[in-house]
Amino acid sequence: MKVHSSEFVVSNTDVTHCPATGKVEYAFIGRSNVGKSSLINMLTGNSRLAKTSQKPGKTLLINHFLINDEWFLVDLPGYGYARAGKSQREQLRRMIERYCLMRQQLVNLFVLVDSRHEPQAIDTDFMEWLGENQIPFSIVFTKIDKLSKQELSTNIAAYKQKLLETWEELPPVFLTSSEKNIGAEELLQYIEQINSTCK
Ligand code: GTP
Ligand code: MG
Repeated sequence: MKVHSSEFVVSNTDVTHCPATGKVEYAFIGRSNVGKSSLINMLTGNSRLAKTSQKPGKTLLINHFLINDEWFLVDLPGYGYARAGKSQREQLRRMIERYCLMRQQLVNLFVLVDSRHEPQAIDTDFMEWLGENQIPFSIVFTKIDKLSKQELSTNIAAYKQKLLETWEELPPVFLTSSEKNIGAEELLQYIEQINSTCK
């Protein structure tokens, strides 16, 4: 699928204020700084669409971007931002959870994981919570440009192994680098496939 148009529509703090169209949407979630906003920019070929930063805690709202006038990509705040105070962390957690639980247009959540790190409880616990709440998700490993091929395959295999301790079946897995423009086609193809089942 080609992205021929992408536009920012609205930012919200609460799911109940998000766009009231019936258009389907795909949201990006994961630890702060994992590369959610950068991934949206890579997918749309628009490096200035979603705001990115070297410092964690950049995205603090639910941001809707309309793609090809047909469906939305949604940029969410990161979870577990260590330097945010307890009350801000709690507020963000609530915003994310309410969005995931209540947003009927959400057809798939992409959970982003930094490919350099060992499995972290904050991510695997969140995936378990998604499973318990029957929210469909896929895993996107980010920043693969920072690893050698060997390191990457070792890390991905270890991650899958860890997931198989609790999951009977693995969700779809994607490998990406927004820096080197890797993985966009596979993700867009996956989205196109889901879009076609929603028509
Ligand atoms: P928050 O909005 O703070 O939750 O962060 P985020 O997950 O949206 O991360 P963002 O896209 O802002 O990227 C964080 C930093 O990682 C930026 O400095 C990006 O340039 C960098 N980054 C993102 N993706 C990649 C990647 O694939 N490779 C490399 N090398 N750097 C990346
Ligand atoms: Mg962001």
